[in-house]
Amino acid sequence: MVNENMYGLGSKRSSIREIFEYAKARSKEIGAEHVFDFSIGNPSVPAPKAVNQAIVDAVNHTPSVALHGYTSAQGDKGVRDTIAANYTRRFGVQLSGDDLYMTCGAAASLTITFHALQNQGDEFITFAPYFAEYKVFVENSGAKFVVAPSDAKTMLPDFSALERAITPQTKGVLINSPNNPSGVVYGEKTLQALAALLRKKSAEYGKPIYLISDEPYRELVYDENTQVPSPMAYYDDTIVCYSYSKSLSLPGERIGYIAVSPKAQERDRVYAAVCGAGRALGFVCAPALFQRVAAVCDGMTSDISVYKRNRDLLYNALTAYGFTCIYPDGAFYLFMKAAEKDAKAFCAKARKYELLMVAGDDFGCEGWVRIAYCVETERIQNALPLFEKLAKEYGLI
Ligand SMILES: Cc1ncc(COP(=O)(O)O)c(C=O)c1O
Repeated sequence: MVNENMYGLGSKRSSIREIFEYAKARSKEIGAEHVFDFSIGNPSVPAPKAVNQAIVDAVNHTPSVALHGYTSAQGDKGVRDTIAANYTRRFGVQLSGDDLYMTCGAAASLTITFHALQNQGDEFITFAPYFAEYKVFVENSGAKFVVAPSDAKTMLPDFSALERAITPQTKGVLINSPNNPSGVVYGEKTLQALAALLRKKSAEYGKPIYLISDEPYRELVYDENTQVPSPMAYYDDTIVCYSYSKSLSLPGERIGYIAVSPKAQERDRVYAAVCGAGRALGFVCAPALFQRVAAVCDGMTSDISVYKRNRDLLYNALTAYGFTCIYPDGAFYLFMKAAEKDAKAFCAKARKYELLMVAGDDFGCEGWVRIAYCVETERIQNALPLFEKLAKEYGLI
């Protein structure tokens, strides 16, 4: 007998993977140039040249045994010190290498964090729309996954709804900015309001409510005046889960980190529990070569001007065709209101035009669709006339 939960997770594909596989099969039938797959968040621009150079330098200048050997379980100390110093410089938050735990990307960062914090009966709250894997990560830690709605107009947190969702069992609130799937960024005011509410509720229940900040898209913002502040600057009981998957276009290399705020009330115990959860889950010693690459390239990005161009092209055209869209300040997703109540039915109609999108139902938000615009710009240009036809079919133009 196998574990039924794990069997369930492993035997069913996510709908994003389903669409991705359909796109591959359909491309074989009618030619890839006729299929517009906007389903998956795989970076479409190459890693910065500095990544290749860092790999070459590491291989050429570090003896093989040292380069490929185990690092400390929590990651190489020099690597952590370098990344922490950059964080302090960039975000004005004092961090040291001893606050960091290197991981295999954001998925591992989140899984470790939930396991590190969870005790029986605990709950973690996130806002819809949310990255679908959150439910898997939270529930697998043994905690209850609780969803609070966002404000339907802005897709920013609805603080009244959050306050109603917080209970004595709430262990943490999980945020993601820039957001997958909405593209919204939580600015200073949002973080201040969130921090004030969490402080109030922590005091009321006499225990810290943690703010877990999932930040794989932190550097992917496109307008000069869009800042992505560090939540640690606003709230002490914060744990940042970071990944280089998107910023450096390295999703297959599995590298990221957890940063525990040095000001957290139980900082030493939280950091030790992170190390313990990493150990229990087998996430010790993140890939050694890519730890070094991360230290050299931390703060850099691949050429995100391509995503900006795609964002502008798509947002301007779709809104001109009459679709309602959330303006994406960052990440590489556009969240669009489906032109009928049932987003799945809308996606099925779009599929007739070979436009492949993901229904918002998969992100806990019915009536919307996600369009991943991390594709070649030409794909978007060629897809626009088809979106226009779709808009006409719904009488939007
Ligand atoms: C919001 C969000 N969090 C976490 C992840 C997982 O990232 P990683 O590839 O670094 O594990 C993703 C991946 O798409 C994501 O969109």
